[in-house]
Amino acid sequence: MASAVAESRPPDSKTIASVAISMRGSISITDAERAGAIEPFKDAALYDWEYRHRRQDVAFYRMLANERPGPILDLGCGTGRLTLPLARDGHHVVGLDAAPAMLARARMRLRRASRIVSGRCLLVRADLRALPLVGYFPLAIAAFHTVQHLVDDRDLVSLFRNVRRLIEPDGWFAFDVFFPDPRWLARPSNREFDRTTFRHPTTGQRLAYTAAHRLDETRRALHMMFRYRPVGDDGLSIGRSRTVRLCHRQLPPRDVKALLRRSGLKILARWGGFNGEPLTEDRDALGSARPSEQHVYLTGPGRPLGGRPRGRRGGG
Ligand SMILES: C[S@@+](CC[C@H](N)C(=O)[O-])C[C@H]1O[C@@H](n2cnc3c(N)ncnc32)[C@H](O)[C@@H]1O
Repeated sequence: MASAVAESRPPDSKTIASVAISMRGSISITDAERAGAIEPFKDAALYDWEYRHRRQDVAFYRMLANERPGPILDLGCGTGRLTLPLARDGHHVVGLDAAPAMLARARMRLRRASRIVSGRCLLVRADLRALPLVGYFPLAIAAFHTVQHLVDDRDLVSLFRNVRRLIEPDGWFAFDVFFPDPRWLARPSNREFDRTTFRHPTTGQRLAYTAAHRLDETRRALHMMFRYRPVGDDGLSIGRSRTVRLCHRQLPPRDVKALLRRSGLKILARWGGFNGEPLTEDRDALGSARPSEQHVYLTGPGRPLGGRPRGRRGGG
């Protein structure tokens, strides 16, 4: 339908041979699923503000990049939260995303960076389901639950197969998955929780935030609804609220394994967090071991790793 647009000038890297196109939609995804991959990414300034303290994943992906020198493919790059630190570390990075607002903010951040850093980055507007790239990357990443925006098995397999095509024979594809605690999932559907108030980072408007969710077990899709309600200093509503829908495909380890296998990728290592924690699927008998909420996967066509990749830890 639409064409992929190269959003900034090519890096000096020899990796990027061409950007062809097609942004193909899935036939079976529902409107709520589609909205859930778009609405959270319309207010890019708010996105950056809400996740300004999320640093551990940045350090983790920087560490991987230092183990696999060469250009990096940052899938679902968003505002460049990973793209920029990776480029500052000296890597060439191709960042790909579908959201115009997120890419515009990434481009703004690149303009503020040094010419050397911005010259290492290429931003591409395209859909994860039809990667319009050729080349060989030693490392591809999809940080912060990005793969979960694809709900259909078919779309996930298409993404993974394309990544398999784009990474080197001993290349790595790393991504992370949000795996909610079953007790959190069991909270009553559609009831609002986690009320907090804050000021919008650009408008300064005072907002009350609440979150609700419902699980579509048939589609294995978790629908989260975030409500932003303008409030006065007394906390009372003073205007119309805005609801942002976020949808995540639920990806338990057995699904990840099966989908990767269909795509020619193996799990080289996996962790239950960004600091090498073991991946725990269930609460233990005493209820003391918490199931891991972040499932971190290192995959590739090659052989499994013996342990956690060693490398220089970056800040973020
Ligand atoms: C949670 S954000 C992560 C952004 C960035 N990787 C980070 O860690 O901050 C997910 C990103 O995936 C993008 N995205 C979702 N579905 C997509 C699709 N089908 N094609 C391309 N990008 C998509 C969104 O626009 C958004 O920027």
